[in-house]
Amino acid sequence: MPEPGCVVVVGGTSGLGLEVARHYAGQGRPVVLSGRDQGRADAAAAEVGGDARGIALDLAEPGRLADRLADVGDVRHLVLAAIERDENRVQAFDTEGATRLAVLKLVGYAEVVHVLQPRMDPEGAVVLFGGRAKDRPYPGSTMVSTVNGGVTGLVHSLAVELAPIRCNAIHPGIVGDSPYWSAKGEPALEPVRQRTPSRRLVTMEDIVGAVVFLLENRSVNGENLHVDGGWLLL
Ligand SMILES: NC(=O)c1ccc[n+]([C@@H]2O[C@H](COP(=O)([O-])OP(=O)(O)OC[C@H]3O[C@@H](n4cnc5c(N)ncnc54)[C@H](OP(=O)(O)O)[C@@H]3O)[C@@H](O)[C@H]2O)c1
Repeated sequence: MPEPGCVVVVGGTSGLGLEVARHYAGQGRPVVLSGRDQGRADAAAAEVGGDARGIALDLAEPGRLADRLADVGDVRHLVLAAIERDENRVQAFDTEGATRLAVLKLVGYAEVVHVLQPRMDPEGAVVLFGGRAKDRPYPGSTMVSTVNGGVTGLVHSLAVELAPIRCNAIHPGIVGDSPYWSAKGEPALEPVRQRTPSRRLVTMEDIVGAVVFLLENRSVNGENLHVDGGWLLL
């Protein structure tokens, strides 16, 4: 018997979210994926194929999310992957970008959970995307490191508040074939590879596998899973 409800991927038009959406669409599951722009979301949904559709929402406008999500029906799994990176350093701090990212990733993620929770299957699960920048910053990651640290606490609270729905976070290392990092090229990536005990960069395929595990393993709850090839050990 197929599982009831759709898989919602917020931030599903690009990168890791797009690959998660592609996985579930390929499994024949109904998928709702979002970006900020309806046309881009529609194009991503058409690209992943199957029973996928796109919606537009902006997590930095949390007061409008209930409206934006109004026509999403029953939900089995919810993945929150969106980010709008502000390359911010404290010596030249941009408070506008910093505020936008903090609202987007912490208030926006929590508000989507708040809105969709009554429509979620009790056997479903939520995965939030954080990231290893919380522990190992890179130049310009001041706010990315901050919000990804915040995801750790949010997961702990949601796992308790959403029960029996499970909630976990994934904290990837640098994903070498993701659009953001692959655009930086080998000079940025090779030092990371050398400092990673697995001697390889994390791939988008590795991340999809870990997200599926977090969503579908019925005993994994309240976890902050690091998927980084052991990067922090060296
Ligand atoms: N890539 C990595 O190596 C890496 C490493 C560690 C952690 N992470 C985490 O993994 C997640 C995905 O990263 P990624 O590199 O795959 O991202 P990405 O390719 O930059 O995609 C970001 C997604 O977020 C959406 N988005 C941007 N601003 C938004 C807003 N204000 N409201 C709603 N949606 C918005 C984008 O949609 P539109 O552009 O269509 O609006 C897009 O779908 C992020 O949370 C990131 O922190 C990534």
